[in-house]
Amino acid sequence: MTTDTNLLSLARKAARCLLPFIKDPDKQVINLKYFQKIVSLVPELASYHFGALQHLEKIAESKSCDTLRDYYKLLINNNDELEFLKTNLTMKGTHFFRGNDWDLFSKECLSNFEGKEHINLWCAGCSSGEEAYSLLMALSDYVPIERIELLATDYNDELLKKCMAGEYFNQHYSEIPEHYQSWVECGPKKFLIRQELKDRIETRNLNLLSDEFPNGFDVILCRNVLKFFTSTVISEIQKKLSASLNCGGYIFLSRDDGPNTGERIKNPETLGLIEICSGCIYQKKSFPCQQTKEVNQNINEQ
Ligand SMILES: C[S@@+](CC[C@H](N)C(=O)[O-])C[C@H]1O[C@@H](n2cnc3c(N)ncnc32)[C@H](O)[C@@H]1O
Repeated sequence: MTTDTNLLSLARKAARCLLPFIKDPDKQVINLKYFQKIVSLVPELASYHFGALQHLEKIAESKSCDTLRDYYKLLINNNDELEFLKTNLTMKGTHFFRGNDWDLFSKECLSNFEGKEHINLWCAGCSSGEEAYSLLMALSDYVPIERIELLATDYNDELLKKCMAGEYFNQHYSEIPEHYQSWVECGPKKFLIRQELKDRIETRNLNLLSDEFPNGFDVILCRNVLKFFTSTVISEIQKKLSASLNCGGYIFLSRDDGPNTGERIKNPETLGLIEICSGCIYQKKSFPCQQTKEVNQNINEQ
């Protein structure tokens, strides 16, 4: 993933994208050059698309560095800063019941789990946990909460700690539909997720670019994460996510209604998936499962 060709094409894309907006050409030339140098320190950056350049500039500013040259100097031989950068390569903003597709997802997909003995969920790239708790709340409409287990993963330990704490500022309370607000306890400044819900969650540090994926899930959410990666990387991760899914299970991605295609899976049938909702919800075929097993086997052997 970190070949010279990759880096060059990344830099060209970045240049093309930035040309109309260049305010300070000298600074941009420096930034492009040092973007590549920073990629050589943090090779994972090459898996993120050219938006990563702008993101990096923001991080540099937050570290009081005027250009990426200054930021590069700060990074060299500085393990703490390198570690910070490695786990902050994308934005981490999130909220409860994010996006417009939750009602549809609940009615079309989660309702099918009614009566099931045990349900395994995975929230990949969970940030501070709002999405994981949203999923538990939504599924509690159909299944008693003690039958549900949810694995919440991210590559940023600070965010995972926040997820486990389950404590959020009151300004986010209104993001939770009234129907589910009994799942939280209100305080003067913050509200707290009730223990019964927190007990259903296990957190784990998992880097989607490099770690092995767990499997056996009935539902996988990986929303507003894939869109940060290059298209090759997106396809690789989508294959692995599909391999982690039980037959009949669902993948819920985020939809981009703008000019971009969002996180859409290009050829779902080749992964044994059926598109349930355009570009964002997919179901793993329950039959023929044989074909799906072969796809999984091939992926795991790669
Ligand atoms: C914009 S947030 C999305 C959070 C949530 N899924 C949502 O839709 O609101 C992107 C998350 O992806 C995580 N992330 C980015 N790159 C990752 C990687 N390589 N492995 C695991 N998590 C990653 C970030 O730490 C961040 O929490």
